[in-house]
Amino acid sequence: MSSEHSTPNETPVHEGHDPAEFHVDRFESAWVKISILLLVVFGVAISISSFGYGVQIPSVYQRIDPRVFATPGMPDAGAFANPGLRELAPGKYEAYVLAQIWSFNPAEIRVPVGSTVTFYVTSRDVQHGFKLQDTNLNMMILPGQVSTLSVTFGKPGTHNFICHEYCGTLHHTMYGRVVVEEVADSTAVQN
Ligand code: CUA
Repeated sequence: MSSEHSTPNETPVHEGHDPAEFHVDRFESAWVKISILLLVVFGVAISISSFGYGVQIPSVYQRIDPRVFATPGMPDAGAFANPGLRELAPGKYEAYVLAQIWSFNPAEIRVPVGSTVTFYVTSRDVQHGFKLQDTNLNMMILPGQVSTLSVTFGKPGTHNFICHEYCGTLHHTMYGRVVVEEVADSTAVQN
């Protein structure tokens, strides 16, 4: 860096100045420190939620035509024409869940403990929500879009899933459940 400025409009810098003389207003200095501290706090918060709590960002699996995708026999009828649970391998499942006013199809899913289930959820009418209690699965469900997230169920029990986007008069009745069952046969799930 040059110690001399040749541009006539610029204020000349002091030659050989002591860095200790570099003056920052104490309020400015305080706010700079607070800003840096906030960045650190936010960074820690994001790290804890990502790695500690395993926050998942719902992803868009595909776009589909809500008029035809769930109609059996239609050319574009996909997995949602016959929603439900599919077993891919021991302990690995896919769940196709169709949301519509004011129900989920299927409303009950049963899997053995230790299973990993990838949920594919879409709506055939309006916007819904899909929140699976006591897990990190929470998605917005839109017509024309398939949302997907996976959950591994480590403990037996029941997780209710609820619609958490207001979708009309009977919104509050729109729910279902995932029942995680104790495995009687120890060979049923092997991870
Ligand atoms: Cu569906 Cu609220």
